[in-house]
Amino acid sequence: MKKVGIAILGLGVVGGGTYEILTQKREFFRETQNVDLVVERVLESNPNRIAALGIAKGCVAANIAEVALDPDVNIVVECIGGIEAAKEYVLAALNAGKTVVTSNKELFSKYSHELERAAKRHNAGLYFEASCVGGVPIIRTLLDGVQSNEISSLMGIINGTTNFILTEMTEKKTSYEEALKEAQRLGYAEANPAADVEGFDAAYKLSILSSLAFHTKVPFTKVFREGITNVSAEDIADGDALGYKLKLLAVGKNSQKGIEVRVHPTFVRKDHPLASVKGSYNAVFVTGDSVGDIMLYGRGAGALPTGSAIVSDIIYAATHSENKYSTFKNTASATEGVKFLNDFASGYYLRLTVNDEPGVLAKIAAILARYSISIVELIQRSSEKEAGKATLVLVTHETRELSVKNAVAKLNATELAKVESVLRVAL
Ligand code: HSE
Repeated sequence: MKKVGIAILGLGVVGGGTYEILTQKREFFRETQNVDLVVERVLESNPNRIAALGIAKGCVAANIAEVALDPDVNIVVECIGGIEAAKEYVLAALNAGKTVVTSNKELFSKYSHELERAAKRHNAGLYFEASCVGGVPIIRTLLDGVQSNEISSLMGIINGTTNFILTEMTEKKTSYEEALKEAQRLGYAEANPAADVEGFDAAYKLSILSSLAFHTKVPFTKVFREGITNVSAEDIADGDALGYKLKLLAVGKNSQKGIEVRVHPTFVRKDHPLASVKGSYNAVFVTGDSVGDIMLYGRGAGALPTGSAIVSDIIYAATHSENKYSTFKNTASATEGVKFLNDFASGYYLRLTVNDEPGVLAKIAAILARYSISIVELIQRSSEKEAGKATLVLVTHETRELSVKNAVAKLNATELAKVESVLRVAL
């Protein structure tokens, strides 16, 4: 039976989960995959992590060179995260001809061309299923399962922390701050939650998924990004009353006009399959020309779900003699000539505080009409905060982002109305 040596860099949550799966299921993989996957080396500076997993001292490498030069290591798993050390270590492994499996979305999103160039030059594999949506096999699906399709769009809830926070705010009617604290208490959100709540994590993933789906490199810098830090419980409740759930949605679209990629809080109709994705769960909804709509759902983070994706990549690499690389032009200059759209179209939700007096509604509708903004539905109630004021909540037909920005500026410049919030609505 073929023996394949593995090295794991970083034994945090994901590295630890990968180690557990590899060691506990070694016999299962021998039986079902006809391959013996052996953890030969680990690189980890925290001795507690090494002790907690019961790893023998002889297995622990002192530095990346020891791993890269070890003839018993065939596959190097990078679970360090971040850029500096991770990039140096991954390149060292690839340059030594070792196949790399990584869960690092920031690294792959920003440097996929450099990493792939090194991998090809040294006939090494480079696999990254765990970089996007944890245990949900979305990358293999895009590369293998739906490659017969031209994919026109993908929409996803691809960050579990923000989905947990928005679900808490919806179901328990708590504020953003309270929901964030709960997410931190349960270990979903980091002490510094910026990467998740500001939408960076989802934007890295969207750039990778869109590159694969649209066969065109989609750099992270092209992703329009807005996080959830300004979302209010009031908007969530008003959206709920109108039949919507608020999600941090990642949207990628490809058409004759160009590619649009965006991450922002979005109201989704309650009867859309993505509306039922709650808590820390993730899902991706893909539309292809032959297959129609498909949706993948599952855990986007955690030791074993992410370890599941990593070990699946290891098994692929260990059982195939040919390396499989990304299916888009993956060079530094690959985006030359590709059109990325900034002024996308969407439905919009607006909440306004207005003077509660005759004729105001007509004046607001007239301003919106001047920017070709047409209202689908509207609710009005007396303001709980200010006497003589009313709260107006409206949802628009499809409108261009720029028209909404201009209309909001115009409304705010009048004495009649103050626009309190603007959120997109998925159509
Ligand atoms: N922090 C991410 C999330 C998991 O909350 O989904 C890793 O990308």
